[in-house]
Amino acid sequence: MSKLFTPLTINEVSFKNRIGMSPMCQYSSEDGVASNWHLVHLGSKAVGGVGFIMTECTAVSPSGRISQGCAGLWDQKHANALKPIVDFQKSYGTVTGIQISHSGRKGSAETALEGGSHLDINDKDSWDTVGPTNTAFDPDGTRLWKTPKALPVKEIKEIQQQFVHSAVLAREVGYDVLEVHCAHGYLLHSFLTPLVNSRDDEYGGDLRGRARFLLETVAMVREVWPEQRVLSVRLSVHDFVEKGLTLEDSIQVGFWLKDLGVDFLDCSGGGAVPEARGAIGNRTAEQPDMAGVIREATGLAVMAVGGITDPHQAENLIESSKADLVLLGREMMRDPHWAFNAAKTLRTETRHVLAEQYGFFVGSS
Ligand SMILES: Cc1cc2nc3c(=O)[nH]c(=O)nc-3n(C[C@H](O)[C@H](O)[C@H](O)COP(=O)(O)O)c2cc1C
Repeated sequence: MSKLFTPLTINEVSFKNRIGMSPMCQYSSEDGVASNWHLVHLGSKAVGGVGFIMTECTAVSPSGRISQGCAGLWDQKHANALKPIVDFQKSYGTVTGIQISHSGRKGSAETALEGGSHLDINDKDSWDTVGPTNTAFDPDGTRLWKTPKALPVKEIKEIQQQFVHSAVLAREVGYDVLEVHCAHGYLLHSFLTPLVNSRDDEYGGDLRGRARFLLETVAMVREVWPEQRVLSVRLSVHDFVEKGLTLEDSIQVGFWLKDLGVDFLDCSGGGAVPEARGAIGNRTAEQPDMAGVIREATGLAVMAVGGITDPHQAENLIESSKADLVLLGREMMRDPHWAFNAAKTLRTETRHVLAEQYGFFVGSS
């Protein structure tokens, strides 16, 4: 039996296999509300047999979005739109997750489909951004990047309350996994990394100070997130730039998160500054292997992600105990039935991988 197709149970959440879809912004929301596109995008992967689907980064407030097209979860109307999509995924045995986030100084951008650059400060669709300091993400870029406001402590506390509010809405929608986004240069990561955070108050300084925003937020979210379900944090486990976050830093943060009751670390990388590798730049085994180092050091369950395309590579990550789940992003766009095709490649039964409506006709025992 392929290890990739063995179940995994964490708390009271059971994943039918170790294959997940990584969160991917779809720029298909209006005022943050999910659309039919989300039903098809997420639903098709459930039909395709993945054990887990993480919904794209979903903003805790309007200005916490990356672009005007990004998803949100700050109002009941967002929860109402997400509920049938979650119910659909669950009806095919998929564990559902949602990543809640704040864009920080990388907000007020075009959608990636439009180029992903910052909106010009004079653009009517742009908005004021915030960060640990008032340094723009790309002060030397060709566009006029908005200078973020250095967050006063009072506003840090307000954003933390917004994370809690989104977590409560996600709980009511029925998600199994809640993920706090602390990667790719967005607000929480921008506080964690020394490449961006040069504050001299209690939210800056050494690693413990820079982690304060994240750790307080996670502790508050933990209070409202049921212990039977799963709490995850996505970290950029390496900044891939000199003087940035290292694997050793991420192991330490992992221990702190574990103490707060976090169940899973989702190990991504990069994105803090323009010269860092971007979140989707990984074309080697390097980043998934880092998940293994973190897993071994912290004892936490981990998700590995970045450039995973081949079933044998995925199998090896689970088999060699480097990861508990493998996440695929772009490869799921290429092949929504990747899990089914992986089962064929790994010569395991395919009868029950796809949804019954397909599996009955094309699967085999
Ligand atoms: C279109 C697109 C949108 C993405 N949006 C998110 C996101 O919302 N949250 C996140 O943490 N990562 C996001 N990512 C990064 C992916 O989750 C993933 O980590 C990255 O693409 C590497 O995996 P891959 O090589 O399998 O694509 C996005 C990637 C792509 C291609």
